[in-house]
Amino acid sequence: MKSLIDQLDQEHNLSQSQLTTLLQNITPELSEYLFEKARATSQNYFGNAIYTRGLIEFTNYCKNDCYYCGIRKSNSNAIRYRLTKEQILSCCKQGHELGFRTFVLQGGEDGFFTDEKMVDIISSIKKAFPDCAITLSIGEKSYDSYQKFYNAGADRYLLRHETATDSHYASLHPKNLLLSTRKQCLQDLKEIGYQVGTGFMVGSPYQTIENLVADLQFIKEFSPHMIGIGPFIPHKDTQFASEPAGTLELTLFLIGVLRLLLPNALIPATTALGTIDPTGREKGILAGANVVMPNLSPTSVRKNYSLYDNKICTGDEAAECRLCLEKRMNKIGYYLSSERGDFQPII
Ligand code: 5AD
Ligand code: FES
Repeated sequence: MKSLIDQLDQEHNLSQSQLTTLLQNITPELSEYLFEKARATSQNYFGNAIYTRGLIEFTNYCKNDCYYCGIRKSNSNAIRYRLTKEQILSCCKQGHELGFRTFVLQGGEDGFFTDEKMVDIISSIKKAFPDCAITLSIGEKSYDSYQKFYNAGADRYLLRHETATDSHYASLHPKNLLLSTRKQCLQDLKEIGYQVGTGFMVGSPYQTIENLVADLQFIKEFSPHMIGIGPFIPHKDTQFASEPAGTLELTLFLIGVLRLLLPNALIPATTALGTIDPTGREKGILAGANVVMPNLSPTSVRKNYSLYDNKICTGDEAAECRLCLEKRMNKIGYYLSSERGDFQPII
């Protein structure tokens, strides 16, 4: 098995059957071998710097009904909120003072935020903080809308594909949501010129090793600038409430594999990873991740942006999260960078 990892390290690719073999044979020893290589690759591109993105969860209204998600429209227990433009700008101001140079605007697919409103918000942020990157994470939109947001100053877009297998996609989403639409959106975003992030949940219901291999192959082929993966975690108000969560071991292993597949990609150690294990984010960095995304949302709404149960950091001020992460990163030999942290192509 170690020879497969050596090959992956050298060629940044493996065949479908090799990836399958690798995922079927995960052991703690093999994982450690993989993580050493993945860390070395991260070090090579990013040194000991960990990029930070300030996450602003600005609306938890959503018109979609993804079976796994706590803010799905049919969850009548969700307490819904929207931030005003002024509130969003004040999160950015606070974030800027704390050293953030990327703001991620994430929300459900909320019709209240028309293209016009989004353009106004994006251009206002850009005007007030011209040295910052803006990342959007607001779901599936038309080419035209994506173009408008880009023209207004959005730099990056996160849209996880969730699973690259149509039948699995259909077991996680209602009929009106299609993997083909998701893929089209990702192509559109890339064509427009965004730095694009995609990714998937690890251990989502019905997921097989074959599905995961398809995810890895899709990502290798699409070659996104950013890759976000995290364990599936059940939410009590969904039909997957009693499904088991994805495991730390498998998530870390996949982070390591993704680092070797796309050596210069921006890969966050996600909040979901920090939720299933108290030092999950540190372990994510040590498995090859190089980004953290602390929360900048006002504490008054934090607990309502509940995609899954027991989400961490819901009671902590932005400054506390930043400090906490800084300490965590320092403890494992890394430091939080205050740069924008754009994707750098390999030359
Ligand atoms: N567990 C883990 N991740 C989830 N997401 C949504 N619901 C859950 C859940 N129950 C992830 C999806 C989405 C991202 C914003 O959050 O992958 O793309
Ligand atoms: Fe939020 Fe530690 S990162 S409290």
